[in-house]
This record gives sequence, structure tokens and C-alpha cells, in this order.
Amino acid sequence: MKTLTKIAIAAAAVSITATAMAQPKPENFVKQRQSALALIGWYFGPMGAVAKGEQPFNKDDAVRRTSNLVALSKMPWEGFVAGTDNVGNTKALPAIWTNAAKFKDAGTKMEVEIAKLAQLANAGDADGFKKQFGVVGGTCKACHDDFRKQ
Ligand code: HEC
Repeated sequence: MKTLTKIAIAAAAVSITATAMAQPKPENFVKQRQSALALIGWYFGPMGAVAKGEQPFNKDDAVRRTSNLVALSKMPWEGFVAGTDNVGNTKALPAIWTNAAKFKDAGTKMEVEIAKLAQLANAGDADGFKKQFGVVGGTCKACHDDFRKQ
């Protein structure tokens, strides 16, 4: 009985490992990057009203949004695996893979500028924050212009 239990546990462990190691399907890579980018839009977009002066700067909200953005800004890139330029409803352009260095650079720029935005939020620097919002927005646009279907 004891041996059988051990075997059962060992078999379960093997199947869990097999599941964890399974290669995601191409459409799941697309879902991964689109989900991360959709969340980046979700946390970033509403701060535009603050940058335009339509809403007052609120430090707690800015800290919450930018700390989420710091984590999210690192996530989309692993979803851009080769061979997923024509999968599902993706708007990814083939240039992402033919000009990979430029794409990576565009992604790094966004990460760096988002980190600065988070620092300004944490410092409660409303004016700096509003200016930096535009800089981050510029990194989004630059990449979309070159690498996303319009
Ligand atoms: C390095 C390139 C790059 C940067 C930087 C970038 N994006 Fe994108 N973004 C893309 C690509 C490529 C897609 C299309 C992905 C797909 O459909 O597979 C996309 C898609 C999106 C989407 C649509 C997601 C969905 O629902 O399918 C949103 C929203 C978005 N980006 C917002 C942003 C915002 C906001 C920023 C800046 C803070 C940003 N992106 C920065 C490349 C980038």
C-alpha cells in the first residue's frame, strides 16, 4: 500500500511537471502580450486627464497606477515569440521579428520612462509627473507607429 501511494504521488508529480513545461500554443502567446498591453493601457490612459490638467494630481492614485505599470512594462515582450505574426487577431507587424533589435530598444525605452514616471509619483512631484506622462506616451506611439498595424 505504501509503495502504491508513493508511486501514485510520483506519477502525479510527473504529470504536474509535464503540464508546467508544456509549450504554450501560438494563440496563447498572442493573448499574453495583448493582455499585458491592454492592462498597460488601462492603468496608463486615465492619467492623461491629470497630465492635461483636467483632473488634479492624486499621489495615491498615481503611485498605485505606476507601480502596476512598472511590473506590467516587463511583461509583453515574452509574448512576441517568432512565428506569431499572423496568429488570430494580432496587430503585430512582421518588422518586430525582422528588426528585432529596434523593437527591443523601443520596449526598453518604455520600461525606463515608466520607471521614471513611478519615481515622480512616489516623490509627489505633480509637475514632473505631468511632463513625464507625455514622455512615456511618446514611447508608446513610437513603437506603435513602427510595429503595430494601424
Ligand atoms: C515596443 C513596442 C511597444 C510599446 C513600447 C508599446 N506598445 Fe502597445 N502594442 C504594441 C504591439 C506590437 C501591439 C499589438 C499586439 C498584438 O496585437 O499582438 C500593441 C497593442 C497595444 C494595445 C492593444 C492591446 C489589445 O487589447 O490587443 C494597447 C491598449 C497598447 N498597445 C497600449 C500601449 C501603451 C499605453 C503603451 C505605452 C505606455 C504601449 N502600448 C507601448 C507594441 C508596443
